[in-house]
Amino acid sequence: MQPGVEWALRPLAEMSSAEFSEWQALLEERSGMVVTEQRRSFLQANLSSRMREVGAADYSSYYRQVTDGVRGAVEWSTLMDRLTVQETRFFRHPPSFALLSSYMQQRCESRQVDKPWSLWSVGCASGEETYSLAISAAEVLQRFGGEAQQFGVIGTDISLSALSRSRDGHYSSRRLEQLNPELRERYFQPGPDDRLQVISSLAARVCFARLNVLELAGAPMSDMDVIFCQNLLIYFRRWRRREILNRLAERLAPGGLLVIGAGEVVGWQHPDLTPVADSQVLAFTRKCL
Ligand SMILES: C[S@@+](CC[C@H](N)C(=O)[O-])C[C@H]1O[C@@H](n2cnc3c(N)ncnc32)[C@H](O)[C@@H]1O
Repeated sequence: MQPGVEWALRPLAEMSSAEFSEWQALLEERSGMVVTEQRRSFLQANLSSRMREVGAADYSSYYRQVTDGVRGAVEWSTLMDRLTVQETRFFRHPPSFALLSSYMQQRCESRQVDKPWSLWSVGCASGEETYSLAISAAEVLQRFGGEAQQFGVIGTDISLSALSRSRDGHYSSRRLEQLNPELRERYFQPGPDDRLQVISSLAARVCFARLNVLELAGAPMSDMDVIFCQNLLIYFRRWRRREILNRLAERLAPGGLLVIGAGEVVGWQHPDLTPVADSQVLAFTRKCL
């Protein structure tokens, strides 16, 4: 056996309670993510696999490494890629997208929008939600002319590897199985390795940026017509969910639509927002001035 291999195969020791608490606190402070006792083994497995890669001998020395200035920031970002749950799908919650289409249709018909539409997917993972927003917008807006036909979609996430997969815009045919075949035909073209690629005219409407939702106060987005924030807040404490939603509400244009994952927040209200009457979707519109 090569030197070092034996060490690499040795299982790492169980995390002590003190180490678990230290990591829990760091993750929550920096990303908002709460790692419950039930997810302790998930944390330990992912930390130890990364620790093997970088040759860290124990949880405390690795902790020091990720909290050590600039070098630590790079390692932290790699760790975020491993610890965040990036599960997603195209048109993941169909009723939310049905609401979006009817909302856009109705606003176009009543000529309430005279500027290009801005849409935002918060916590976009590998881009499926962002492109689903773009496809929905393209489908509705092609029926209308003028400035209101223009739109742009931004997807933001804390994970750099998720953002790079989003920008790449290539998806396996399995991932596209759930998509309506007509939409698949219209918005995807054959790419390398049997994968399908988002067509360039749609990709040109979409951009991706790194944004930690704990840092929304400094984010440049404003006057957004549509914000989707689904399957992200569930990892956060209730008070933090409400804080984030308050920040998102401030970034909506008058009349804008905020769509949240069903059941992700209970009893939240905002003085500038009106709940949308839809039994299947948790959504709000911003009051017009
Ligand atoms: C489960 S995915 C949800 C993807 C998509 N919104 C959907 O509903 O299918 C959650 C995403 O939130 C991201 N995330 C977790 N913490 C975050 C934070 N503090 N700031 C921004 N994004 C975060 C993760 O990297 C992950 O890609």
